[in-house]
Amino acid sequence: MEIKNVGFIGGGRITQILIEGMIRSEGLNVPIVVSDTNQAALDALKTRFHDITVHLNDNAAPSKCDCVFLALHPPAIGGVLPEISSFLMPQAIFVSLAPKFTIAKLAQGLNGYSRIARIIPNAPSIIGYGFNPIAFSETLSESDRQSLHSILHPLGEFPETPENLLEAYAIVTAMGPTYFWFQWSELKALAMEFGLSEREANIGISKMLGGAMETMFSSGLTEARMLDLIPLKPIGEDEPSIRGILKSKLTALYDKLKK
Ligand SMILES: NC(=O)c1ccc[n+]([C@@H]2O[C@H](COP(=O)([O-])OP(=O)(O)OC[C@H]3O[C@@H](n4cnc5c(N)ncnc54)[C@H](OP(=O)(O)O)[C@@H]3O)[C@@H](O)[C@H]2O)c1
Repeated sequence: MEIKNVGFIGGGRITQILIEGMIRSEGLNVPIVVSDTNQAALDALKTRFHDITVHLNDNAAPSKCDCVFLALHPPAIGGVLPEISSFLMPQAIFVSLAPKFTIAKLAQGLNGYSRIARIIPNAPSIIGYGFNPIAFSETLSESDRQSLHSILHPLGEFPETPENLLEAYAIVTAMGPTYFWFQWSELKALAMEFGLSEREANIGISKMLGGAMETMFSSGLTEARMLDLIPLKPIGEDEPSIRGILKSKLTALYDKLKK
């Protein structure tokens, strides 16, 4: 099936990320229809992407598209599914971007509609560097999966994964940047206070991060050896509390998503 139009129910951050990623690469030349209950969110989208069509408080129009993305937080989803189920076309593909709501629960809310995929996207999709694990319902054929891939591929990677791992990916790869970006930003500010130009700070920090990642994930060094390579650790005494924060907050959120 050729996807001739794309709908988004919810016009917030992830919708902006996906539309911008698709448009930046000129990978999406089909009409885009977005609904939201928040006028400000629609105004922000429309300012950025002039050609899209937006609908306030009306999820019907995006629900009638060939590919329908559900871009809502889990608490808003239960009430929306029955409302939109009658608009879904028999050959459409329904794609949830949310954690927690399984394919089985989505199908139940949609009165048995089962042409469903779930994706846990991440923000680097905005520049085509996304890591976006995907799970499909059995109802979607190989050709449906290819059709979906044809509009999504500009956003980055879409590794197929067992559905029950999607919440783990939500914590690790979708929210992952939030654990690091603010620290890199602080390091950059300090680098500039210490006399590096912005360009020097950007290059130094990004090269350091690239090398540190290679050392951790591709060098074959044991973790103990890697952690012992640098004897002076200026924030080493805070490490146990930082590890504790990660463990307690992320475990609590994971448990909530899996409940
Ligand atoms: N942002 C990411 O990087 C990311 C990554 C992976 C997955 N996701 C998932 O994507 C989903 C949306 O996240 P987001 O980051 O886009 O959140 P967001 O920025 O808060 O956007 C959600 C939008 O949906 C609107 N909305 C609420 N109820 C609605 C309804 N019944 N019909 C239509 N629109 C409605 C909200 O309006 P109000 O603000 O007025 O409520 C808001 O504008 C979540 O399930 C999230 O877990 C996000």
